[in-house]
Amino acid sequence: MKNLGILLSGRGSNFEAIARNVAAGGIPAKIALVVSNRENAPGLDLARAMGLNTRFIPSQGKDREAYDREVVAALKECRVDLVCLAGFMRVLSPYFVRAFPGRILNIHPALLPAFPGLDAQKQALEGGVKFSGCTVHIVDEGVDTGPIVCQAAVPVLENDTVETLSARILKEEHRIYSAAICLMLEGRVRIEGRRAVSAD
Ligand code: GRF
Repeated sequence: MKNLGILLSGRGSNFEAIARNVAAGGIPAKIALVVSNRENAPGLDLARAMGLNTRFIPSQGKDREAYDREVVAALKECRVDLVCLAGFMRVLSPYFVRAFPGRILNIHPALLPAFPGLDAQKQALEGGVKFSGCTVHIVDEGVDTGPIVCQAAVPVLENDTVETLSARILKEEHRIYSAAICLMLEGRVRIEGRRAVSAD
């Protein structure tokens, strides 16, 4: 059984969807550790309520790599195989990325490479696109640049607000994150340059 490590900073709805799929047997893995850099993150409370192994590792005032060394040590201690960023509001240092090469996933609320970075849903609305969506990608040393594992598209409606578009995208996030985790755990993803291709 492979071990998952979840990193979050806030609400934790993606974490919750993953945890429910793990509990239901839909993801062949165990959640070995949930880390939050914010003590008051609702996702951290939820993980505690679910009886999972959690760690609050404060990031405030710490140098990026020093912080990442603490998190990597905790993940290694719990023998984590795959790290899932689930609303973790920090850019990882090269040290972190190299500690789990090709074994860190992130979910982004846009169809990358469109609208990377913060406020992706607002960027999509302002950009006037007719479709947006979400992307699960492998984390490399850039910001939202790594090989794409799964994507889902949703329409952008003329009367959408950031809230309504975000809600439509979030539903798809909850679905494709677990699907991408399964593909990774089953060894069905191979990296070819900048692309993640099916290893079947
Ligand atoms: C999601 O929109 C995700 O795509 C982005 O941060 C948000 C996290 O939401 N990376 P939640 O904490 O999983 O509810």
